[in-house]
Amino acid sequence: MSIIGHGIDIEDLKRFSFLANEDWMARVFTVAEFDSIPSGERRLKHIASRFAAKEAAMKAFGLSFGPGASFKDFEIYRESGCAPELRLSARMRKTADQLGVSVIVLSISHSETSVVASVIVAA
Ligand SMILES: CC(C)(COP(=O)(O)OP(=O)(O)OC[C@H]1O[C@@H](n2cnc3c(N)ncnc32)[C@H](O)[C@@H]1OP(=O)(O)O)[C@@H](O)C(=O)NCCC(=O)NCCS
Repeated sequence: MSIIGHGIDIEDLKRFSFLANEDWMARVFTVAEFDSIPSGERRLKHIASRFAAKEAAMKAFGLSFGPGASFKDFEIYRESGCAPELRLSARMRKTADQLGVSVIVLSISHSETSVVASVIVAA
């Protein structure tokens, strides 16, 4: 396996208590992601960690948000008890194919005040 890119992002949870309104979430999250946001005390950590994962993915792919890439090009999915997965939109799959990406690894961790996400893309 040959590593093509690695991205990491850390986010302060405080920021998301005012940032995570309906408009912002509609811009950042796919419908599936939006529907999987828990209520209660896990809500902010979930939102912040998925946002961090998208930022880390952008770094791993060597891209920046703009006409060629948006937050919704990266979807975070997780089965209960299993590792999170990063799924790509059709256009990001094309970018990934051009880069030769066949493996994507996402890891997430939380503390009481912050979240961190790391993404590795490899051939
Ligand atoms: C994975 C584990 C070590 C998390 O450690 P923790 O210190 O409690 O929590 P952290 O804040 O560091 O990490 C939490 C994140 O770990 C990730 N995670 C959960 N389960 C995971 C797993 N099996 N593998 C990798 N990552 C996992 C999730 O993304 C979670 O964040 P989320 O709830 O926002 O999605 C712990 O939950 C564990 O040991 N689980 C058992 C997993 C297992 O055996 N699964 C078997 C079936 S796949």
